[in-house]
Amino acid sequence: MMNNRLLLVGLIGLMVSASGLSVFDSLKSAQASPSGHAPHGAVTIDGLTVSDIGPLPMSVPSPATNLTYKAKVELGKQLYFDGRLSKSGAISCAFCHNPATGFADPRQTSIGIEGGVGGRQSPTVYNTAFNHLQFWDGRARSLEEQAIGPIQNPIEMGETHENVVSKLRKIKGYQQQFRAVFGTEVNLQGIAEAIASYERTIISTNSSFDKYVAGDASAMDERAVRGMGLFKGKARCILCHNGPNFTDNQFHNLGVPQVGPLKEDLGRYYVTKAEKDKGAFKTPTLRSMSETAPYMHDGAFKTPDEVVDFLNAGGGANQNLSPLVKPLNLTAEEKSDLVAFLKALTGEPIPFQLPKIPKD
Ligand code: HEC
Ligand code: HEC
Repeated sequence: MMNNRLLLVGLIGLMVSASGLSVFDSLKSAQASPSGHAPHGAVTIDGLTVSDIGPLPMSVPSPATNLTYKAKVELGKQLYFDGRLSKSGAISCAFCHNPATGFADPRQTSIGIEGGVGGRQSPTVYNTAFNHLQFWDGRARSLEEQAIGPIQNPIEMGETHENVVSKLRKIKGYQQQFRAVFGTEVNLQGIAEAIASYERTIISTNSSFDKYVAGDASAMDERAVRGMGLFKGKARCILCHNGPNFTDNQFHNLGVPQVGPLKEDLGRYYVTKAEKDKGAFKTPTLRSMSETAPYMHDGAFKTPDEVVDFLNAGGGANQNLSPLVKPLNLTAEEKSDLVAFLKALTGEPIPFQLPKIPKD
């Protein structure tokens, strides 16, 4: 643990460095379009009022204790791609949250260390900066807390925290960067903070939808525009996928069929032990969902069309099914309009280069 003096020195360091630099400049310029659109209206369905969908905020929230700036983001990026965080040396965060597949995992459920199979689908890292809680069941409160989890998860990276820290302490490139960024030796807290900072730069934004609501009427075709109307109306999607990141940050049971290695997954119930949370999972963002198949906590569906068919039928049979889910009676054309809208949520590609990972 850091003592208070070190923490204070670290904080001052962060503030000084942060003042000169913003890694979100490109994001800001991408979003600063002159538009008369009021992003946060409200939509009412069946007497329930929820936030409208709209553009993301101009800047990405970082906690005051872990400000985001370039040197820290660069360090976090190296750690994110470094297999030495795992026991075998081969499994990095990117193995299951791969930039080539929307920072998610195309496998139905992730394969980790020594081929161990986990029971859940790996969600995208896109826009996790906006999540109030992390994991399908919301068991981590922050990206910092989340980042520490997979390293010692026996079926993910399978390494102890002590071993990771002592392995990385031997690497000069990391020693130097930890001194510069945190003023300390390599430690677990710093690993978590740097990775979280990098994750806060993985943002899906400026999609066709964003351009459309910012005033560019040609950004979405007619089908997607009709799909947006359905999303906010007859198809009821906005009841849960609302706000700028298309999630209410709540947990719901859609009756998703349990496939994969687990017989049963009670989701949020494991965290709260409340009956109402049995089988409830966090509403995921829908931004860039076209890149992140398969879908749902267990990867039960391979395509957006399968998801829409499932919801059109009123979800799956489950004694704890959310009362917000109902049969929708969408026509074939309406279903395809809705899918066209989902595809219009794909963000602009992030210019991407693999980091140079320090060898020794
Ligand atoms: C072996 C595959 C695997 C590896 C390696 C892995 N993850 Fe994950 N990740 C998952 C799975 C599966 C989940 C969902 C688990 C759950 O909800 O219980 C997840 C969840 C997450 C989430 C939560 C996202 C959300 O929307 O709730 C974040 C953030 C994340 N991982 C980041 C990381 C980071 C950072 C690393 C490296 C330190 C990492 N992951 C390593 C498979 C992996
Ligand atoms: C009652 C709240 C609720 C409603 C209404 C709802 N969703 Fe969802 N959505 C969720 C939750 C919760 C999940 C994750 C469920 C799980 O994995 O068990 C989810 C998952 C998804 C996924 C998978 C995303 C991924 O990354 O795995 C898609 C796509 C999706 N919803 C689209 C829609 C569409 C389109 C509609 C309207 C037809 C809709 N949802 C209506 C709450 C809702």
